[in-house]
Amino acid sequence: MAVDELSAAAVDALVDPNRGRLHMRIYTDPDVFRAEIRRIFNTTWLFVAHESQVAHAGDYLTSYMGLVPVVVTRDEDGGLHVLVNRCMHRGATICQRESGNASFFRCEYHAWTYDNRGRLIGISRPKGYAQQELDEFAAGLSTAARIASYRGLIFASFASDGPSLDAHLGAAKPYIDEWADQSPTADVRIEGGVWKHRYKGNWKLQVEGSNEGYHPEFLHRIGGLLRARTGVSGLRPWADSTANGYDLGGGHSVMEFPRSESTHAPEYIALLHERLGSERAERALAASWRLQLFPNLALAPTNVRVIRPLAVDLTEVWQYNVTLPDVPQSTALDRIRSEQLFYGPSGYGSPDDLEIFERIQEGCLAATNEQLDPYVWLNRGLRSEVHRADGVRVAHTTSEVEQRAIYYAWSALMKSGAPE
Ligand code: FES
Ligand SMILES: [Fe+2]
Repeated sequence: MAVDELSAAAVDALVDPNRGRLHMRIYTDPDVFRAEIRRIFNTTWLFVAHESQVAHAGDYLTSYMGLVPVVVTRDEDGGLHVLVNRCMHRGATICQRESGNASFFRCEYHAWTYDNRGRLIGISRPKGYAQQELDEFAAGLSTAARIASYRGLIFASFASDGPSLDAHLGAAKPYIDEWADQSPTADVRIEGGVWKHRYKGNWKLQVEGSNEGYHPEFLHRIGGLLRARTGVSGLRPWADSTANGYDLGGGHSVMEFPRSESTHAPEYIALLHERLGSERAERALAASWRLQLFPNLALAPTNVRVIRPLAVDLTEVWQYNVTLPDVPQSTALDRIRSEQLFYGPSGYGSPDDLEIFERIQEGCLAATNEQLDPYVWLNRGLRSEVHRADGVRVAHTTSEVEQRAIYYAWSALMKSGAPE
């Protein structure tokens, strides 16, 4: 691998969030991608799993931290571990399944065995090894340096120091609170399978697209037609609404729609009021927003998206439904239907978004010709943003404030990892 040499000055030349200007190379250049993996994905907090996915002793889930395959496990004492999914012997992955329950993992190549805390507990044909040779493996599997949870969302980092998860999430936490407060039993779950999909485009295109309020009335105009003809709720008159976008700091952003009277089933409303009190319950019931947590998690009241970079021009997204186990069936059905309407191969939204990500990737190949203007722009509404005293930037959701949010954090992380 080429040495990562992107200097701080080079990072500034690529991205200028104060002007809303991006060099197209950030989507197309493999050197930029390698630097992102090292300086962003190998250092900052990444979402790895929700606690409901590893709820019981022995549960595990395979995932990725940047390019690194990991297994998130829960041991017999309830402790969580994020193990690198790589055998100490010759490097094969030790677990291929997406999820399951196991107290140990056995590598298929030479049958070395690890417990779910990552300790090497068995070696095949051990007599062939001298003790000194075995001493090389005393440490067990590599692990994430830090693991922390917030309201059931498990994050991990390969950096042993740096901001705490609490500091990292910062102003995004109240939205996560509302997300977790939706359940009458405080039991929000990610369950029922995953929609994994790849697109031939850079990972940042999904990060930008998760709460982009400028495009829906154009790209998803079929949604407007459906709304007009059927009155189906959930399809919004985007540009006319008073929805705001917020740059929450840390690369996180939210697109938030006006909170209206909740239309939920009366039993659900009553259950939530009973558990949370009316103020918190009403906030959770009326929650209508899309939260993007930098770099790899997008959260909505009814779904979760995990963004996995594979190459500069290849990305995989894992999308899950968020279920509330103790709500009335009509509420559960409404939630599933609203997901089916927009997402998935036959939804009216997702296929358009994926097509556009690939078109942007194709257009940005123009970056390979230095005679051409190399910039794309996220400067809409830059000058009318309101800067709140707590540092949050606010503007109408069509203003690209959510997308600019990404690049303040991107630029800071890329520069902090730059060579002197
Ligand atoms: S590579 Fe895993 S046991 Fe040899
Ligand atoms: Fe979209």
